[in-house]
Amino acid sequence: MPAPPAVFRRTGAYVAIAAVVATVGGAFAWTAGWLTPERLTATRMTDAIEATSTTPYPGFRRAHAKGICVGGHFEGAPEGAALSRAQVFAHAGTPLVGRMSIGGGSPYGLDAQARVRSMALVLTAADGSEWRMAMNSFPFFGVASAQAFFEQTRASAPDPTTGKPDPERMAAFAAQHPEAQRFAAWAKSAPWSDSFANTAYNGIHAYRFINGDGETQLVRWSMRPQTPFVEMSAAQREAAEDNYLQDDLRTRLDAGPLRWDMVVTLATADDDASDPSTPWPDDREQVVVGTVVLTSAQDQATGACRDLNFDPTVVPAGVALSDDPILDARAAVYAQSFDRRQREVARGADVAGTPRAEGAR
Ligand code: HEM
Repeated sequence: MPAPPAVFRRTGAYVAIAAVVATVGGAFAWTAGWLTPERLTATRMTDAIEATSTTPYPGFRRAHAKGICVGGHFEGAPEGAALSRAQVFAHAGTPLVGRMSIGGGSPYGLDAQARVRSMALVLTAADGSEWRMAMNSFPFFGVASAQAFFEQTRASAPDPTTGKPDPERMAAFAAQHPEAQRFAAWAKSAPWSDSFANTAYNGIHAYRFINGDGETQLVRWSMRPQTPFVEMSAAQREAAEDNYLQDDLRTRLDAGPLRWDMVVTLATADDDASDPSTPWPDDREQVVVGTVVLTSAQDQATGACRDLNFDPTVVPAGVALSDDPILDARAAVYAQSFDRRQREVARGADVAGTPRAEGAR
């Protein structure tokens, strides 16, 4: 068969190039969610979280914006080393950088009125491997999926006319998500601690511990304070002091180190490892695997925690993720929030504490 004329050969090459460009462009567009605007992406989730603040706060975390950096170390226990070959359990002095924060998108939130308090940590083992954690004072998550969290976030965004969440949208969300009732009941009834130091912080998700023999155990962990619990009084809450928890933390650290036992709860075959909104039964075996020791605090504007992303999917050998899909969603959204705030800092955002604009709280 004779070869096609040169003009057709060129046209065929152009068509092939156009097809490659269209395919690559389409793949990018699909990944970015442009072709499916209803698909949940890290960008859409982060946009929804931003929309819950009436004022933008450039340079700050999009959630848990108000916090204080802390430093200290982790003391591993033999019981931990029996469950996981993570180096931190085999050593008494793994250095850590952390951050204590309150929930919410404002860096000027009132400590004394914060229902959710948090502890985030990066443990860096002698071999350089890192274990990043971001834990909250609630004992289980409010919803069972990233999509539900997105819908809840959108439902709680302030209505532009009232500046408050629309009660009808909130009620519609609650009707569609009965699992959120359990969290609402906790938020209403659980006693409020009066210090970061006497609060327990929960990892919420299931993870896998793998020991030196290759045995795997599904666990959830909590940091249980050695400082005795004291309930915050209604008067303390109403006094609404800005930096109540941070000031208290600094005062306590001036007097000496603060400690939390790391307690792991061992799952049985009956326990769901993929749903962080469902607590495991109270009678599950618990093991103390180590101790978090905090010794210092620094402002978040200048401290070592500012430019850290406490991504809960960064785990060392000896620890592996479970099938909980919210873990992956968190990794993607934290990266998006980190990227946005770092760009803003690079462009000169004042994270040292912008003067409090009228109504900035
Ligand atoms: C789909 C679910 C979730 C989303 C979309 C989400 C979103 C975010 C975002 C955007 C940040 C700011 C990250 C940064 O800029 O570095 C953040 C921080 C944080 N989140 Fe979440 N979160 C989710 C679930 C959870 C859960 C289940 C917990 C508790 C186990 C948690 C605990 C924290 C803590 C402690 C911080 C502050 C970390 C720090 O001090 O840097 N989050 N979250």
